[in-house]
Amino acid sequence: MKQKNIPILKMLDKFTKKNPLSFHVPGHKNGTIFPEQAQTYYEHILKLDVTELPGLDDLHAPQGSIAEAEKLATKFFQSDHTFFLINGSTVGNLAMILATCKQGDKVIVQRNCHKSIMNGLELAGVRPIFIAPDYDAKVQRFTSPALKTFADALSEHPDAAAVILTYPDYFGRTYNIKAMIELAHKNNIPVLVDEAHGVHFSLGNPFPSSSLTLGADVVVHSAHKTAPAMTMASYLHIKSTRVTKECLAYRLQMLQSSSPSYPLMASLDIARYFLANQTEESIQQALTDVQEIKALFAAETYDKWELVPSNDPIKLTIQLKDGYTAKEAATLFEAQGIYPELVTERQILFIFGLASFTEWNRLKKVLDSVNEKLKNEPNHATIEVVNLFTSKRQELALSYRKMEGLEQKLIPLEASNGEIAAEAVIPYPPGIPFILKGEMVTHEHIRAIRQLTVRGVRIQQRNEGIRIFKQ
Ligand SMILES: Cc1ncc(COP(=O)(O)O)c(C=O)c1O
Repeated sequence: MKQKNIPILKMLDKFTKKNPLSFHVPGHKNGTIFPEQAQTYYEHILKLDVTELPGLDDLHAPQGSIAEAEKLATKFFQSDHTFFLINGSTVGNLAMILATCKQGDKVIVQRNCHKSIMNGLELAGVRPIFIAPDYDAKVQRFTSPALKTFADALSEHPDAAAVILTYPDYFGRTYNIKAMIELAHKNNIPVLVDEAHGVHFSLGNPFPSSSLTLGADVVVHSAHKTAPAMTMASYLHIKSTRVTKECLAYRLQMLQSSSPSYPLMASLDIARYFLANQTEESIQQALTDVQEIKALFAAETYDKWELVPSNDPIKLTIQLKDGYTAKEAATLFEAQGIYPELVTERQILFIFGLASFTEWNRLKKVLDSVNEKLKNEPNHATIEVVNLFTSKRQELALSYRKMEGLEQKLIPLEASNGEIAAEAVIPYPPGIPFILKGEMVTHEHIRAIRQLTVRGVRIQQRNEGIRIFKQ
């Protein structure tokens, strides 16, 4: 199959050339009805924003160009089947859990996973066995669970219905997932991987291996995170004898919109085309530029931060030295039009694109200016984050079933020690729950959340305080 084709784009191009007259949805009528001030941005894309007309195929039962595009993606990613997702990796995570697990099943889950995994567990009504990540002093973060933690959980729960892992982490940190997959497969347990941040791993060396090639059964990729795809465009891959394509397709048609966006589907087709047509030279060129950007950040004159190692070459994390806060540095970057991906207490994450970089002078100027303007202030007292996940294996204090029947009440966070949370507390980004729904709140949680709030981290919650279960 030729990776030079972009079948969905070709189909849409052919359709728009007919100059069609719309007596159907959507209401912008091929972009002809649209407020003038928005037209400049939308006029071209709206021509592609069509619906399931004859000849335009159907994401939920693809037979034409969408099927062809998914086949090309299947071939490129070397899966058994690749599904196009128009509701982000979020829907991929929900679908893979619902397709694999049923109510009451035990599921071994990495504790520091995205909220969509937690939501999937709750929707499926499973019994999660959380495994805690280790604190890696080298990068000063919680990263992945140790192989021993994983193996212990597996030998205690050999009857688990699935294992759910996140690989790589937000910062591009990978780990020996292959060993975990092999251990799980010895018990015939399917491994579901949220690889939202690793679609470019499909390019192979020098990027880390994708868990799909390392034997995972189901893998989710946010195409929009590191490939040139539109926001929400994602892939769901299956390569398994343990999970069926039909179960995934059933859940996807349940969870995804019945009016899938054609611009998003085309953008998945385009992202696959882009990845498949990268050459060794083009990748080398992009990575040489990345190396130079990293060298620029690492210049001796920049004495207020240092670089943190990452396994993913397109990610750069800087760590502010004692006395300087990442928030202040990020604010200085942003004031000059340079927007990083993520800011934590001490670190700032930058993600590069898969192409040559051109804005050298601008970047250099901003780096000089940020380094010069950063002020040294005494560090705030920080909590010992190392103590956050003290038990290596943890279950919820209540089953999802039990939680359904309980009344809730809103109380101040300070008063919640020892109570069972009725809602997750999720700083965003990165969207990894700090407190889980159904977890007992501890002093450590309360102190950590207070500190995040002081730093201005956005917590995705509607209320002041926290909802707990009345017991
Ligand atoms: C690890 C991880 N998984 C899943 C998601 C959700 O991805 P999406 O935004 O494509 O729905 C995110 C989003 O940041 C993420 O970081």
